[in-house]
Amino acid sequence: MLVDIHSHILPGIDDGAQDFDDTLALAEQAVREGITHIIATPHYRKLNWLNKKDEVLELTEQVQSFLDENNVNLKVYPSQEIHVTDHLIDELLDNKLLSLDPYDRYLLLEYPSRNLPKNYLETLSHVIDLGYTPVIAHVEKQAELFNNPSLLVELIEMGCLTQLTASSLLDPADGAKCLELLNQNLIHIIASDVHNLDSRNFHMKEAFELIEQHQSIDYVNYYINNSNQLINGEDIIIKDPKKIKMKKKRFFGLKWFN
Ligand SMILES: [Fe+2]
Repeated sequence: MLVDIHSHILPGIDDGAQDFDDTLALAEQAVREGITHIIATPHYRKLNWLNKKDEVLELTEQVQSFLDENNVNLKVYPSQEIHVTDHLIDELLDNKLLSLDPYDRYLLLEYPSRNLPKNYLETLSHVIDLGYTPVIAHVEKQAELFNNPSLLVELIEMGCLTQLTASSLLDPADGAKCLELLNQNLIHIIASDVHNLDSRNFHMKEAFELIEQHQSIDYVNYYINNSNQLINGEDIIIKDPKKIKMKKKRFFGLKWFN
């Protein structure tokens, strides 16, 4: 069982698959990569995309029937990639959002790529108090988190999980830094965030091959198991983050550490 927990496979509702033909092509590629279960996570509250819970539930059912009719052996699950806004807590309380699992434990949360909201820790802690585990989407694409691994440690210690995009590991510019995050045990989930077969494809197989080569098969199994536990709403036992080298900073002529 190989689960991809982050994908834009539903047709015509965001910048992922544009129609059912695209959805079919993506699903067939998923099967070729060995993916057996895929969580559809269309953008929620990002730019002009809303993608309300009921609409996602209905479209996921239609897509599943369509794939079954086309003999594609892939299970599709409904969820959302929730762009964090001031609406988040109220919408959680009103049961308006879709979690990643049937037991309502894990939520895929996305932050703007440049700046984290000022109150992000407070909001995350509220989400955790409500009984959810935030899964922070593609942390390598959020500049503050990617450039300050100590912020990732802080999030993990609070109880958040982190997801890294498979293709980012293969990226000539960012791949080495992504691998470093893996080596520091700061990543718990590898997922595709697939949008299309051209510029934003799955690359799950290649990413796991690279992890096996640079880390070990045990790490490959760790990531695969974490996604399996997640889709079943089970506890995920994470590896402890390794010590982060502190950056030296100068402050009024004195060296200090943060
Ligand atoms: Fe995404």
